[in-house]
Amino acid sequence: MSTLADLHREILGCCACELAKHRTRVVPGEGDENARIVLIGEAPGLHEDRQGRPFVGAAGKFLEELLASIGLKRNRVYICNVLKCRPPGNRDPMPEEIVSCRKWLDSQLEIIKPKIVVTLGRHSMARFFPGVTISKVHGRERQENGVIYFPMYHPAAALHQQSLRRTIEMDMQRIRTLLDMTEDITAVPKTGEEPKQLSMF
Ligand code: URA
Repeated sequence: MSTLADLHREILGCCACELAKHRTRVVPGEGDENARIVLIGEAPGLHEDRQGRPFVGAAGKFLEELLASIGLKRNRVYICNVLKCRPPGNRDPMPEEIVSCRKWLDSQLEIIKPKIVVTLGRHSMARFFPGVTISKVHGRERQENGVIYFPMYHPAAALHQQSLRRTIEMDMQRIRTLLDMTEDITAVPKTGEEPKQLSMF
């Protein structure tokens, strides 16, 4: 299998959909190849398109604060998007763009093999939780083939809607618990200690 650096090089040359004509830079993703947690946003915005890096604008600043609140630096996780190129004017991704880009995210997850996949916003959530509503499932994990999938609101939502800020902050705290659980998920509980449990939907 190729390394993440090889994959990033391939992604940088992608012209599989119309977005290639509009982009300034491709935004493959960045972070730790051995990360236990991968966070997946929707698509690059203006700043990401200029810099070729994910989550470098206002939403990225908030995401970094959220990560810091559970003791994580962004270079210890892997951050990417469903789409690797910016949709013009930050419009919603089109279904055919999501299909064209799908193989890149699949390969990223195959190489990194994270324990926890966090979806940020509904487009990213739809990739792993088709047919659900974010207001119903955010903050509740689902485990599949040894991977925990965890849907969250997009950090940008909190910037537009203050009431969501606390919700996102609280959901982030659950990730700390999940990380602790995946660290010793195979450990035998000490005498008198409750076995750790996932609260899946
Ligand atoms: N929003 C996203 O979904 N992704 C980014 O990289 C930046 C903002």
